[in-house]
Amino acid sequence: MAMASRPRTSTRDPEEIAHRLTVWLATRLPGARATAVTVPVANGMSSETLLFDIEHPTRLQPPFRACALRLAADPSAYTVFPVYDMVRQYRTMRLVAQHTDVPVPRVLWLEEDPGPLGAPFFVMERVEGRVPPDVMPYTYEGNWLHAASDGQRERLEAATIGLLARLHDQVPLEKAQFLTLPGDGDALHRHVTAQRAYYHWVVDGLPRSPLIEEAFDRLAHLWPRDPGAPVLNWGDARIGNVIYDGFEPVAVLDWEMAAVAPREVDLGWTLYLHRFFHDLTVASGGRGLPDFLRRERVEERYARLTGHIPRDMDFYTLYAALRQAIVMLRVAYRQAHFGEVAVPADPDTLILHHDSLRAMVQGGYWS
Ligand SMILES: Nc1ncnc2c1ncn2[C@@H]1O[C@H](COP(=O)(O)OP(=O)(O)OP(=O)(O)O)[C@@H](O)[C@H]1O
Ligand SMILES: [Mg+2]
Repeated sequence: MAMASRPRTSTRDPEEIAHRLTVWLATRLPGARATAVTVPVANGMSSETLLFDIEHPTRLQPPFRACALRLAADPSAYTVFPVYDMVRQYRTMRLVAQHTDVPVPRVLWLEEDPGPLGAPFFVMERVEGRVPPDVMPYTYEGNWLHAASDGQRERLEAATIGLLARLHDQVPLEKAQFLTLPGDGDALHRHVTAQRAYYHWVVDGLPRSPLIEEAFDRLAHLWPRDPGAPVLNWGDARIGNVIYDGFEPVAVLDWEMAAVAPREVDLGWTLYLHRFFHDLTVASGGRGLPDFLRRERVEERYARLTGHIPRDMDFYTLYAALRQAIVMLRVAYRQAHFGEVAVPADPDTLILHHDSLRAMVQGGYWS
């Protein structure tokens, strides 16, 4: 999930986790110890990610040396999402590794029992490289991507859209049936229905958001006449979830939101999540990165790579902004729950990008 600042997230103690991890590790790899347990900086807040090394009496070969662990959020901590399904993520990463040349970290172990660490988790190989930061977002000065040349950013953009193209083209849909969302209708209807359910979960017992509800109405109005055939979508498809070596992707992370959906769901998310950070930067007086991930160019690239010309992108970018708004609202209600902020009279002000979302609802954003 993309946040411009980092809300308080964890109720867990890293030292205790390290100890419990070592105890657990011995059941999978006798004699092994977890060392150098750290929480990565700058990105991530929905599940919890830990990095650690494995020490073992025999010299372990990669990928069994440097690891990353993804732990389901603590259910007692007013989580951002209602469900954290580690099995689904683990299976998705294996599926993608099996059927595509998209670089995903190799998954090593899945632990479904919440006993050992307090919640289910999986362990994957740790990949070296750099991630465009969310906090402070890469659209502000002071990070490697902002400091790069236009040409380097263009290389990164092309390679990243290439990831989407390959993922969408290469995964056989019949193997991804476990990622088909429940409900009636086509994949797009099911996807939007799931987001409506998420919204209702967020506002249960709390003020509803007029803006989000208008955005849902507007979606219905812009609904694609003929949504393309569904494919496996990455879900949280944005550059902040990619590890780059230089400007080349070496690991695609964060498969929590993967689902069977039209290709444009991922594309809209990639485009909008960049705009989210860019717009924030501009609103605070910065220049942002206006020439990076431009909508027409991204659509062209994707069409060239896949032969599929993206359609209805006003719908899909609005949909991304709407989904991001639901997350923002939940995060704000979470902060209110912990007494960090008060719920204002107009809950729409809790949505950081309410101006952009309103402009999209009114149809003036892209012009
Ligand atoms: N396999 C890995 N190798 C190296 N670093 C990793 C790996 N997995 C995660 N990380 C580090 O952890 C950070 C957060 O990872 P990720 O985005 O998967 O988790 P998250 O907490 O769910 O984030 P989000 O809020 O985007 O859902 C990454 O930006 C990266 O720095
Ligand atoms: Mg992430």
